[in-house]
Amino acid sequence: MPLQIIRQDITKMQVDAIVNAANESLLGGGGVDGAIHRAAGEKLLEECRKLGGCKTGQAKLTRGYNLPCRYVIHTVGPIWHGGNDGEAQLLSSCYTQSLLLAKKKRCTSVAFPLISTGAYGYPKDEALRIATQCICNFLEENEMTVYLVVFDRQSYQIGKSLADDIQSYIDDHYTSAFEESAAERMRRRALEESYEAKVSAPSMPAPFMVAEAAPMPKRTMSKRDLARALEELDESFSQTLLRMIDERGMTDAQCYKKANIDRKLFSKIRKDVHYKPSKYTAIAFAIALELDLEETLAFLQKAGFTLSHSYKFDIIIEYFIKNRIYDVFQINEALFAFDQPLLGA
Ligand code: APR
Repeated sequence: MPLQIIRQDITKMQVDAIVNAANESLLGGGGVDGAIHRAAGEKLLEECRKLGGCKTGQAKLTRGYNLPCRYVIHTVGPIWHGGNDGEAQLLSSCYTQSLLLAKKKRCTSVAFPLISTGAYGYPKDEALRIATQCICNFLEENEMTVYLVVFDRQSYQIGKSLADDIQSYIDDHYTSAFEESAAERMRRRALEESYEAKVSAPSMPAPFMVAEAAPMPKRTMSKRDLARALEELDESFSQTLLRMIDERGMTDAQCYKKANIDRKLFSKIRKDVHYKPSKYTAIAFAIALELDLEETLAFLQKAGFTLSHSYKFDIIIEYFIKNRIYDVFQINEALFAFDQPLLGA
């Protein structure tokens, strides 16, 4: 999965490079800066002293020393002053400059904290949107695994109106699944009671007694029928996927990048006509192909899946499809906020 959001302490990340949310002196501080310096040891500070500081929006690289990563990329996020001081551009530059530096050092994996969302006071939901936007733009042209590392639950927020909208959609549909089963239970109980009432009435024959069921015709399928059925298999999941990519005039890369699927997995799918994807992979492709709900259900059925109102994950996916929001990274931000697995692979 090219872009993952995970709960972790960034100093534990075993990646090629972790990014530090530093200040312009590069001489350490609190928050993630302090944690990285403590874990790396004083040699990190010695190397930082030689860098001569770093401008806001820029990035500089050092070794990782005692950290389980090769490099630390120090970048300086903007301090939030209300949003009219070029903060968004500077924050975008932190992500882009750090990724370009990682690419220059041939890193294949990089972990970012949510820059500027702590001491520097950047609104968390906007900072998250900028982070995912910058990282996705970079991943459209580059192969790399990028982690957005969330240290504590309160430092992660998606837009309030989106969160409220999704929550009310879950409440309506999740409970409706519950209500349906309650209604079903009531229907069944009414049937049982009316059956018992009739059967226990002395004069009344049991109108509902099922007549001795005639023996069911044994359903047998001859070997020939089975062979024919196997020959007439429907189009497989991967055949359907490849056909739909062509029908939409997309390239393979456009589709798998939009689905947050890595190239190696896609080439496996392309080569194996009977490939069986996970549900998350199948849905990620449905989003990338921008299928409506009916098309999505038919597409998922190819892989033996469906969307059910008994699972929050499925209801959130349905919410985005019904609202025609096909940004898999925005969907993943919401899934992460609701403690659900992410789309992609
Ligand atoms: N791993 C991952 N993320 C972390 C960790 C950690 N060990 N510790 C903190 N964070 C998260 C915070 O929860 C926040 O979401 O990092 C994000 C950035 O918060 P800060 O570290 O406060 O960084 P920032 O807001 O960019 O302010 C930078 O703070 O530490 C000083 O020297 C630093 O002056 C600079 C300023």
